[in-house]
Amino acid sequence: MWIFGYGSLVWKPGFRFEESHAARLEGFKRRFWQGSPDHRGTPERPGRVVTLLEDPSASVFGRAFRLSPEVFAKTLPRLDHREKGGYQRLSVELELLDDGRRVPATLYVAVPGNPSYLGPADLAEMARHIASSAGPSGRNDEYLLELAGWLDRHGLDDPHVRRLVEMVTALSWRRLPKDAD
Ligand code: BEZ
Repeated sequence: MWIFGYGSLVWKPGFRFEESHAARLEGFKRRFWQGSPDHRGTPERPGRVVTLLEDPSASVFGRAFRLSPEVFAKTLPRLDHREKGGYQRLSVELELLDDGRRVPATLYVAVPGNPSYLGPADLAEMARHIASSAGPSGRNDEYLLELAGWLDRHGLDDPHVRRLVEMVTALSWRRLPKDAD
């Protein structure tokens, strides 16, 4: 009964779990290509959040949670509801980084063509979009920085996330008034 988080679940799971480990999923890459009209943006101006894209040459780091069967059964319908904006459940196999165990897990992925899908864009454009979006769950840049902070604390790198953080940070410096103390 494992769930794999690679977005907000890594820092804010919102469910009780028995154990959690940094984990690697092979065959996928993480991209800020999914629109968020209900969490980090609004229907008029959706934010950008992560989804996974199949890529046989890639792997993605995230957090694996083991849930009791009771909590697992209660949690999936809640996540189905929370992620109603275009995500589908997928069954995968993960590698736990600390002990090398391979475990079956459930994850949510937003497939291309779903109603909220934004797809690729120039990285600088994505950074401007993230730096200027917010929704009921908070600012879009907070979502990016929380994810990057979790990866950093675990010594894990995702170049796509890292480059977006660099660009969003540069934008926020530029927005500071020159005479701010
Ligand atoms: C995540 O945090 O892994 C996640 C949760 C729901 C949808 C997509 C990603």
